[in-house]
Amino acid sequence: MNAPHSPSPLASVPMAPADPILGVTEAYVADQNPRKVNLGVGVYTDDQGKIPLLECVRHAESERLKSAAPRGYLPIDGLAAYDRAVQELVFGAQKQNVVTVQALGGTGGLKIGADFLRSIAKESGVWISEPSWENHRQLFEAAGFKVNSYPYYDAKTHGLDFAGMKQGLDALPAGSIVVLHACCHNPTGVDLTQEQWQAVLEIVSSRGLIPFLDLAYQGFAEGLDADAYAARLFSEAMSPVFLSSSFSKSFSLYGERVGALSVVTGSAEEAARVLSNLKRIVRTNYSNPPTHGGQIVATVLGNPQLKSLWDREVGGMRDRIKAMRKTLVDSIHKRVPGSDFKFVLSQRGMFSYSGLTRDQVRRLREEYSIYTIDTGRICVAALTTKNVEYVADAIASVIRG
Ligand SMILES: Cc1ncc(COP(=O)(O)O)c(C=O)c1O
Repeated sequence: MNAPHSPSPLASVPMAPADPILGVTEAYVADQNPRKVNLGVGVYTDDQGKIPLLECVRHAESERLKSAAPRGYLPIDGLAAYDRAVQELVFGAQKQNVVTVQALGGTGGLKIGADFLRSIAKESGVWISEPSWENHRQLFEAAGFKVNSYPYYDAKTHGLDFAGMKQGLDALPAGSIVVLHACCHNPTGVDLTQEQWQAVLEIVSSRGLIPFLDLAYQGFAEGLDADAYAARLFSEAMSPVFLSSSFSKSFSLYGERVGALSVVTGSAEEAARVLSNLKRIVRTNYSNPPTHGGQIVATVLGNPQLKSLWDREVGGMRDRIKAMRKTLVDSIHKRVPGSDFKFVLSQRGMFSYSGLTRDQVRRLREEYSIYTIDTGRICVAALTTKNVEYVADAIASVIRG
């Protein structure tokens, strides 16, 4: 017990703000309506509304069980076979000048990168898209950076404000860190075309900016290689390039925390020095990553048959999301003929910025038990043939006013 004259340092700790998305899930769980739908959280479900256990993961797990090994520590930078496989998947080949370290999900990759950048580019600001995944701001602020934003989404067209984006990036001081969603932008679903990526690369490299690509949905837009377009374009044209990968969604391994950080450097020698620093950051935070998820992913990526099974399974998830987008748009249009939700079809990945207002989102929740977040972002990957008509009905009713 502390003496009365020395109050506990915990006595005046303020309550930290609640995570907006987890708050939505809590409200959803407490709701007794059997028709309730959670479109708030970023998780892919199959048509039965379940998080899938991929066939390729099942195979890799049973293969590993047959030769169950003791659970020693992994190296600080993770399983070597995993790091190599991730590098090939993202960059198309292993590169002498690229270092890849296993990380605790995509979030972990971002955090290792942010901590390292803070140690080498203290004066730099970080620039994220407006809007962006909410955790980008908090994560880079927690690493000590001032976080600003560049224009990205145009609410009027439901598309990209490319002129604004270019203008914003073109005005940044050299050394600024620019966070870019490599595909399937979260939360809008609005991506750059290949020509637009080339124009952004031109600005980033000519102005001496530091790109940090966030690749959390490889395979969910067009395909595994197509979705690595920006990663490969940047890595072949310049250094440094930072890139975080996540396999939470593409392997449906959310809780296993499998991700990575890759850094494209100027040479093999520079890569070795960078790696030594990344290892220090890992060592002083959590020492080394967990084994299970990394081994599953390494096993799948290292076996051509399992890899092509995975490719097909990711393709299945991608196609299901696209089909749900189409059913949703058609169904809303049938109910409200003048409505124009067609933009939802060209958005990519798990999310759609639906254009629903805060008030419409509230009505969805209160009148229909359909939960989503105030910005109107909906997770289209949580729609199923069983709930999509109900959701379309509800949206039609709230947009009619
Ligand atoms: C853009 C973006 N980056 C990173 C992540 C983090 O992924 P992980 O769950 O692997 O940490 C997410 C997850 O929602 C995301 O949407």
